[in-house]
Amino acid sequence: MNSLHIAPVQGHTDAAWRHFHHEVYGGDALYYTPFIRAEHGDLRQRDLRDFSGPLNEGLNLEPQVIFRDGAELSILLSRLAAEGASRINLNMGCPFPLQMGKGRGCGFLSNTQELGNIAAILARHPELSFSLKMRLGMEKPDEWRGAIDALRDIPLRFVAMHPRTGRQQYSGDLNLDAFRNLLDEAPWPVVYNGELHTPDDIARVASEFPGIDGVMAGRGMLARPSLFAEFVAGEEWPREKRIDVMLDFHRRLFEHYRASLCGESQLLSKIKPFWEYAEQEIGRKPWKAIMKAGSMPKYLSAVALIRE
Ligand SMILES: Cc1cc2nc3c(=O)[nH]c(=O)nc-3n(C[C@H](O)[C@H](O)[C@H](O)COP(=O)(O)O)c2cc1C
Repeated sequence: MNSLHIAPVQGHTDAAWRHFHHEVYGGDALYYTPFIRAEHGDLRQRDLRDFSGPLNEGLNLEPQVIFRDGAELSILLSRLAAEGASRINLNMGCPFPLQMGKGRGCGFLSNTQELGNIAAILARHPELSFSLKMRLGMEKPDEWRGAIDALRDIPLRFVAMHPRTGRQQYSGDLNLDAFRNLLDEAPWPVVYNGELHTPDDIARVASEFPGIDGVMAGRGMLARPSLFAEFVAGEEWPREKRIDVMLDFHRRLFEHYRASLCGESQLLSKIKPFWEYAEQEIGRKPWKAIMKAGSMPKYLSAVALIRE
């Protein structure tokens, strides 16, 4: 297996998260921006700030775009190329009802007409290389085949697959048979994404699918940010070390946002979500206390419970 990928998670893996994650845990995994949208004929300004800010310096980072047609895709590619991007990840997996319903993310998979147009748009950007992140489909687990056919002549660097449909959102059975079909049929390297929570989970997927190029972790990485460092080291870190390093990581995030945001409630609503997926790792009691914390002293004493 060649590559490790830290999945984009909107509202969580922002520039500060990526920066401090890399500062604390190191490694050479690929990071992504959460999806970048077109708005009023330009890049959405918030998305642009997340991609182009100084916190991204030195990071192995790929911006990700979400689009509903060739026109949006063209804007995104031209503007990101102008902002210095050299590679771009195409989102055909997002199941957020607002995006999917407008034909973006995994909603794009069933738009055969627009799918047919995008290869020509990608080919107009020889300065960019592309990768694809997708689900099996919006409704049915074989819709991915349309994208594979439409993009067959594009030398994608890889395709990352989360083997669920959009309707399943983020739970329910993973369709590993469909994943195996993709692995057999895709003309590009394939990256597995879904429910990797421990180094053993990664080892299991690598041995079940020896043909994959790499693995991608999202919620597992938010819950246990040492996941890839442990996998690369070939052994699990003791819980005490995991918690110590995780607290250091979250403290850096906290200090960064304390210096850059105004007011307690803005700060709280920014930093609490960083713990959202960590219930198992930090324990139910501190996790609930963090989620409930309505003031800074309550937040800080909730975080202190983690070590008890
Ligand atoms: C709250 C949330 C936001 C997400 N935002 C994005 C996104 O911006 N772009 C994207 O490609 N996937 C996004 N995802 C999907 C993840 O990248 C990943 O594919 C999915 O969570 C399955 O992997 P996991 O089981 O390792 O979490 C998001 C997932 C969640 C739960």
